[in-house]
Amino acid sequence: MKYEFPDNFIWGVATAAQQVEGAAFEDGRGLSIWDVFARIPGKVKDGQVPDVTCDQYHRYEEDVKLMKDLGIKSYRFSFSWPRILPDGTGKVNQAGVDYYRRLIRCLKENGIEPNATMYHWDLPWQLQLKGGWGNRESIRWFTEYAKVLLDNFGSEVNLWVTFNEPIATYVGYGMGTFAPGLTDEKYARQALHNLLVAHGEAVKLFRSCRLPDAKIGIVVDIWKHRAGRPGNEEDEAAALKGNEIAGYGWFLHPLFLGGYSEELTKYYTENGLTPAAEPGDFETIKEPIDFYGLNFYNGIVDNAEEARRRAEKRQAGGGNYQDKPEQHPEAIYEVMHMLVEKYHVSVPIYVTENGALQLDFGDRPKEYFLDDPDRVAYLKEVFRWLHKAIADGIDIRGYYLWSLLDNFEWNVGTFMRYGICYTDFRTLERTYKNSALWYRQVIGDNGFEG
Ligand code: FCB
Repeated sequence: MKYEFPDNFIWGVATAAQQVEGAAFEDGRGLSIWDVFARIPGKVKDGQVPDVTCDQYHRYEEDVKLMKDLGIKSYRFSFSWPRILPDGTGKVNQAGVDYYRRLIRCLKENGIEPNATMYHWDLPWQLQLKGGWGNRESIRWFTEYAKVLLDNFGSEVNLWVTFNEPIATYVGYGMGTFAPGLTDEKYARQALHNLLVAHGEAVKLFRSCRLPDAKIGIVVDIWKHRAGRPGNEEDEAAALKGNEIAGYGWFLHPLFLGGYSEELTKYYTENGLTPAAEPGDFETIKEPIDFYGLNFYNGIVDNAEEARRRAEKRQAGGGNYQDKPEQHPEAIYEVMHMLVEKYHVSVPIYVTENGALQLDFGDRPKEYFLDDPDRVAYLKEVFRWLHKAIADGIDIRGYYLWSLLDNFEWNVGTFMRYGICYTDFRTLERTYKNSALWYRQVIGDNGFEG
């Protein structure tokens, strides 16, 4: 069967500033929470730091060439807040603005549509020192930053994302495994509330700029959980938590339906975690957006018994990363239906990230990673389900593969390779993997036979 995608379907690739740019100390860039966090022993695998990563800051022309050669129609990248405003607010770093001007011009000259994210996790360190997202002032800091971006690039970029995956701030403030490494759930819950209000304020600001061709949205990742043993109390509780308390429902409910869900409100009340809100906050969060960005990687089956078995195995020294998680590409289809049916999403949807990883234990040659049939098989499955959702009438406009390049994968550094291009982190040379060539074919044919 031929899986053909709609005319004008956008086939893209995605990256984020902190993961690919490098040049962390150049041209006036300030520090981000990730630059600092990575220097705390034990926080990033093997003590890696994001100083150089893929060095896209110096090699963007080469990367745009790669994209052009693959037929990529749109590049989703993020602005680095500390490169634009080294202190988070106040003085604008012109060299930072100039960099993105060069990048955007280069993309457009090559017929590639820029899709720009304002915030992909790299909060300026100077703002963290003032409490970061936990401080309600962060709403003002973010809108000041958004204004600098819109003033400079509003007429250059037509696809804007306010935030990438708000949940990452919970991982950083509540769980401690992402920057800035805090483990304070109450503070984290407040931080996320502030962040959602900041999103709404940025959308209002965007509207006031009256940019006739530009659209704005937000990216929320969805890992849809279901109980492995339906009816089993433990599994059901884990799935509920994964969906509503510490997952997508936390964001989608206030964004699309208004206010926090019943389940989350109950959890907040029972645990004394209700974030301080001001009148009007929930209206602001629900400010209408033009599109929704879905980051999709997997569906999750919660099985407490299985989880215990895995934990035992880990303690015995085996398992962990060696254990391949089950893959549930079909979950993307369920997610699309849930967006429309449960959250009444009526704006166009883009898959703003999706991809597969290869683990690099440092003991395998480059050639091993260039041949990646597992990635192709996974992508094919995802595309089939996506195609089916489109055939059902869901308005899905595009797909961005994560990622163009192997890059700095946050707390696991270069250990997880998500690229369709291999990055040699010593020479910074880029090489197509087989998946890149396959993707080029899909783009060229606007679909595939399978
Ligand atoms: C997403 C992030 C992105 C990258 C991929 C693998 O959650 O948005 O930066 O880390 O996962």
